[in-house]
Amino acid sequence: MTRSTQSLIRLRDLSESRLEDVLDLAQRFKAGSQRAELTGKSVGFLFFRGSLRTRTSFEVAVQQLGGRGVHLSAGSDFWELEARDGVVMDGTAPEHVRDAAAVLSTYCDALAIRPKPAGKAWEVDRRDEGIRAWASNSQVPVINMESALWHPLQVLADLLTLRETFGKDIKGRRLAIVWTPSPTPAGPAVVHSLLHAALRAGANVSLAHPPGYELDGGVLSEARQLTAEGDATFEEVSSADAAARGADVIYARSWGALESYGQPTMAAHRVAQSRDWLVDEKLMSLGDDARLMHPMPVRRNLEVTDEVLDGPRSLVYRQAANRLPTQKGLLSLLLRGGA
Ligand code: CP
Repeated sequence: MTRSTQSLIRLRDLSESRLEDVLDLAQRFKAGSQRAELTGKSVGFLFFRGSLRTRTSFEVAVQQLGGRGVHLSAGSDFWELEARDGVVMDGTAPEHVRDAAAVLSTYCDALAIRPKPAGKAWEVDRRDEGIRAWASNSQVPVINMESALWHPLQVLADLLTLRETFGKDIKGRRLAIVWTPSPTPAGPAVVHSLLHAALRAGANVSLAHPPGYELDGGVLSEARQLTAEGDATFEEVSSADAAARGADVIYARSWGALESYGQPTMAAHRVAQSRDWLVDEKLMSLGDDARLMHPMPVRRNLEVTDEVLDGPRSLVYRQAANRLPTQKGLLSLLLRGGA
């Protein structure tokens, strides 16, 4: 058996041409291609925290490609795993990721992991040590199903959605990324991946959030580097209105303040002050026939109004639906043998 070991921790792990291949394959699957690229292959899914879309779409993707998915949930199917190297394992974790990854690699042709960041210190969680430990100790590809820093699978679906809406070339399109409030905010992984993907594609990005909600410093530096290397532009603005003006897409997403990372009470307090960040028809009307995107889950009438979510400009269900063909495209590319 030819085994590929290319992992996908972040979108940049795919070259421009391989990214195009995934999106082309996804479009072929949507057009009815029945290729059974995973016949006889097994994919292990390890969830260290919950998921609705990622779990379901990935399992269905493997099934539709003729493979078999094996689902394991931390806490019920297996135990805590140690990710640090060289430690004396006298704590609560009875097994090391190094051993778990080596063993599961002998059963599965790929491992898809949704890690759970510790949630105490951003400087620690931003290193993505858990998913990286899996990738460096696995003999088969490891696919990141959303770590602290990156969510490449969501953004593959977003890129397909943009391609279907505006055509293959989104150079010069204006993307407004707008922070939205939530008492249980997500991490910034989607926005990090989206920001880089949009700039790589040549889009002009305007990012709006309240003070204190700056994205990861390393991610922002890379974003500025991308604008220096290409035609894309990137600006940070202080209001949703400023970002939305003239936008082709308003991409709404809640994320927690990294400056108060690990302090949920502080996050809830900030939500109470942030009602004016609701995405409604008035905000949408500032765009240039703007479409709404959101990766979900979405808090209705706190992040986005019912009217906008259920209206004709909303692409949110299409984004969610596109998780399936893009993951089929990715799995086909990674697992069809020496790809
Ligand atoms: N967007 C997304 O990844 O959804 P889930 O958390 O439900 O998988």
